[in-house]
Amino acid sequence: MIELKDLGMSYTLESGTLDVLKGVDVFIGDGETVAIVGPSGSGKTTLLLLLAGLELPQLGDIKLDGISLSELSSDELADVRRDNLGIIFQSFHLVPSLTALGNVTLPLEIAGKENAKARATELLEKVGLGERMDHYPSQLSGGEQQRVAIARALVHAPKMVLADEPTGNLDIKTGAKIIELLFNLNADAGSTLVLVTHDEAIARRCQRVLRLHEGQLIEDESHALSN
Ligand SMILES: Nc1ncnc2c1ncn2[C@@H]1O[C@H](COP(=O)(O)OP(=O)(O)O)[C@@H](O)[C@H]1O
Ligand SMILES: [Mg+2]
Repeated sequence: MIELKDLGMSYTLESGTLDVLKGVDVFIGDGETVAIVGPSGSGKTTLLLLLAGLELPQLGDIKLDGISLSELSSDELADVRRDNLGIIFQSFHLVPSLTALGNVTLPLEIAGKENAKARATELLEKVGLGERMDHYPSQLSGGEQQRVAIARALVHAPKMVLADEPTGNLDIKTGAKIIELLFNLNADAGSTLVLVTHDEAIARRCQRVLRLHEGQLIEDESHALSN
């Protein structure tokens, strides 16, 4: 579970201070699917970066399974992130000099895991890229690159998957397939999914919708799933 308490985040600009998140309180339980929605600039990506421990808040606290992230050293934080989180970005962020297999194997190799190649192969097969494992990112379509990114995010069986507009760079049909894949793999793994999206239909597929407006949480809605 992850707990955000009275979270505040601001950026210092030449023109002054920009308050991006203002007193956000959220509790996300294990295995929940949560959508973060809101207009452009409302703080969605910032919230996700804080959840990912990639940014630290100026105010408030983030606890992962009761451990306050701000109390960890940067090495400890990196370990926590590596063991618990899988992150998917809008713009894939693949290593261009590595094949699909290389990209998916990398996090396991960094973590010193055995059978890295076998596990990465299994994930690439799950995302439907069994035949494309030796291709480089430049040889893959956008949808295929995002499949590689999903395989990479899930390869170490993280407890929580964070995705920031994962279909933002894809056409509607490809995007729908990617979302389907993400929900299915997440359900199979029983992991928590936090998904930033501006697509209300995608948001409704999550158990909870968190709505941000100008850095404040204006809605936290739980609903029964229709799918
Ligand atoms: N590194 C940064 N430095 C300065 N301002 C930033 C930075 N990152 C985001 N912002 C600003 O913070 C606000 C929220 O950004 P963001 O979290 O990316 O919103 P969203 O993802 O909802 O579009 C925006 O006004 C954006 O310009
Ligand atoms: Mg964003």
